[in-house]
Amino acid sequence: MTGILSADGSKRLVLVSGRAHPELAAAVAEEMGTELLPTSAYDFANGEIYVRFGESVRGADVYVLQSHTSPINQWIMEQMIMVDALKRASAKTITVVAPFYAYARQDKKHKGREPISARLIADMYEVAGADRLMSVDLHTAQLQGFFNGPVDHLWAMPLLTEYVKSRVDLSNVTVVSPDAGRIKVAEKWAAKLGGHPLAFVHKTRDINQPNQAVANRVVGDVVGRSCVLVDDLIDTGGTIAEAVRVCMESGAKEVIVAATHGVLSDPAAQRLQDSGAKEVVVTDTLPITQDKRFEKLTVLSIAPLLARAIEEVFADGSVTSLFEGNS
Ligand code: R5P
Repeated sequence: MTGILSADGSKRLVLVSGRAHPELAAAVAEEMGTELLPTSAYDFANGEIYVRFGESVRGADVYVLQSHTSPINQWIMEQMIMVDALKRASAKTITVVAPFYAYARQDKKHKGREPISARLIADMYEVAGADRLMSVDLHTAQLQGFFNGPVDHLWAMPLLTEYVKSRVDLSNVTVVSPDAGRIKVAEKWAAKLGGHPLAFVHKTRDINQPNQAVANRVVGDVVGRSCVLVDDLIDTGGTIAEAVRVCMESGAKEVIVAATHGVLSDPAAQRLQDSGAKEVVVTDTLPITQDKRFEKLTVLSIAPLLARAIEEVFADGSVTSLFEGNS
């Protein structure tokens, strides 16, 4: 039978995956020294999804991995259907592993008559039968409270900072937040890199272009410095490309961009390649297909972190210990 038994043989860990990011699922399984549960999944002619597991999951602790990449709604639905199938097949516990939490940016109402889609996603997983959620670098940490069960909030920062340390002159670094709202994250980065000055990009509104934020100056010292520009995600690349431009125009020596989630919707690849950044570093919480890749892009594997976290949860260990008490 597929899976991993606990040391005393009383528990069985099973890893299953949807179809969104098979490379990541295979890498996590390999890290854990197991195989994915054989699963059939396909679409009916009208777009409905069918899923069936090839082995019993009765009494198992099941981890359902799905990467919320495009087409996002299809992959969310597939993961819900997998959770439902597991619940009806008497899995003991079901953990939704969503390395990138979709709809996370819609976590509050900015105007009347808007949804709070991030909450809806959590509710839907709960109704489907999920006992717990695991995700990496939530857009805002308070999303953890949207789900009533335990949420394992993993950080990619140790992985990203270790890499970035090898790419910059650490005696001359300024950590830059692309907007004032993410300065807390930049602060953690600055500490992790060894205690460096901070800066942030200040955005103002152009009165001739309603609803368009313009990144027009950097607050903080970037002149002659290696700037490490950090964000949780890069979608179309507009925010980061603007921030790189402003840093360079303000006298930065170079800019390295680090972000956890490479959504990279069009035209991100072109924008980032042309942005003037020396390098753009992301993880593979989302698949980075060939058309999204560009010369300056570096992709780090998130699989070891996911594998360790799943093992800790299964063994009733400590996820916090993976982050030296920072979680
Ligand atoms: C904003 O709150 C996020 O952290 C990202 O900066 C933003 O969503 C990225 O979007 P884009 O790459 O399309 O500018």
